[in-house]
Amino acid sequence: MEEVKVGLVGLGTVGSGVYELIAQNGEFIAQKTGLRLTVKKILVRDLAKPRPVSSPPELLTTQAEEIFGDPEIKIVCELLGGIEPAKTYILEALRAGKAVVTANKAVLAEHGEEVFRTAQETGQALFFEAAVGGGVPIIKTLRESLSANRIQNLTAIVNGTCNYILTRMLEEGRPLPEVVAEAQKLGLAEADPSLDLSGLDSAHKIAILATLTQGSYISSEKVYVEGIEGLEPLDLAFAQELGFVTKLLALACLKEGGLEIRVHPTLVPQGHMLASVRLAYNAFLLKGDFVGQVLLYGLGAGAKPTASAVVADLLDAARQLQSGTSPPPLLYRASSPALIPMEEVVSRYYFRFSALDRPGVLSKIAGILGQHQISIASVIQKERREGEAVPIVMLTHEAREKAVRQALKEIDQLEVVAAPTKLLRILES
Ligand code: NAP
Ligand code: HSE
Repeated sequence: MEEVKVGLVGLGTVGSGVYELIAQNGEFIAQKTGLRLTVKKILVRDLAKPRPVSSPPELLTTQAEEIFGDPEIKIVCELLGGIEPAKTYILEALRAGKAVVTANKAVLAEHGEEVFRTAQETGQALFFEAAVGGGVPIIKTLRESLSANRIQNLTAIVNGTCNYILTRMLEEGRPLPEVVAEAQKLGLAEADPSLDLSGLDSAHKIAILATLTQGSYISSEKVYVEGIEGLEPLDLAFAQELGFVTKLLALACLKEGGLEIRVHPTLVPQGHMLASVRLAYNAFLLKGDFVGQVLLYGLGAGAKPTASAVVADLLDAARQLQSGTSPPPLLYRASSPALIPMEEVVSRYYFRFSALDRPGVLSKIAGILGQHQISIASVIQKERREGEAVPIVMLTHEAREKAVRQALKEIDQLEVVAAPTKLLRILES
């Protein structure tokens, strides 16, 4: 039986889950794999903080050197979050000849070039399954199982917090701020939940997945991002009436001109596989040129599912140390594919206009849309209240984003339009 000593960096939601999993399943794992994972030290900020797991107090330290300077610790497991000091710790561990397991998508998506290259140069293993999809093995699937495919299309629900919030808003008609606090209590949200709501966490994740599918680094700065902060229960209800469920989607699609990579709230047809993904679940719908469609589904956040991915990575890293082999490189290609700007994306759209209910209003709006070659597929206007703004909801046929933005700019300047138009994109089926 080989004992492998691990330094845990962070004992928050995920770190506690990892500690608990090793304590609970360590013996079973050792019998099954011949590898015994032992947590030797745990780095935290505050030694006195009450924690959900009862780790012996002598394991806790606030001195990073007790982990990075200990030659017995072979694997550093970074579970802090944020960019610094997490990035420095990851690089320091790799340079000190230690394997690294991390759940930190922010560091990988914003500084992946440096981190992946350092892993390659030092010949150290770097595993990050928990950075995307919580307990869903999407990283391994892309790195190993589907590595022979060109991934033509990846459409995913990658943020458990947003999916939880959208599910509760739709099913209970509750406003967004009320549900955010609930997601925080469940340990789903980031330490700074605006990362989830703004779509940035999803952008981090889709950038990491696109890096894997393309074999070259794609920074999250290149991803077009809209979050869910502006969504109102009214839009979710209209979408439902029209046969859609509203989801925050992350998309990476290969088109003739290059790669489209974007994150935004999207109307998903009710019969679509992603429409039934509720609460903190994530789902990844992939289309490879040889394998065809593949769907992965599971819990994308929370202590236990995330710990499941982290500990599997610890075992992979331990196996690699045991065999003395070098991990395969992550970045094969020197240059990224061309990225298609958002203005050139073609989609169907949902618009909600806030217009005064006067004769001729609809024809004015339709006229501007027509001038920009935007064709209307359907319209609903519920209430008639003379002199007051009423919602007019329209669905369009396919149109180019650039034309849509210009048309809405002109429509929102009309005297009869009382508030900026809400725009949502519709998932192509
Ligand atoms: P968290 O609950 O906020 O825990 C962070 C831990 O890091 C805490 O134990 C904290 O110490 C420690 N820490 C922070 N800054 C430190 C510093 N400068 N020095 C020493 N210790 C420091 O975060 P989390 O939810 O576990 O997330 C950890 C990572 O996993 C993040 O990268 C996150 O994006 C990722 N992730 C989270 C989930 C999830 O469901 N939560 C899922 C997948 C991936 P104290 O406890 O002493 O304050
Ligand atoms: N805050 C993230 C989410 C954690 O809700 O998806 C998992 O990465």
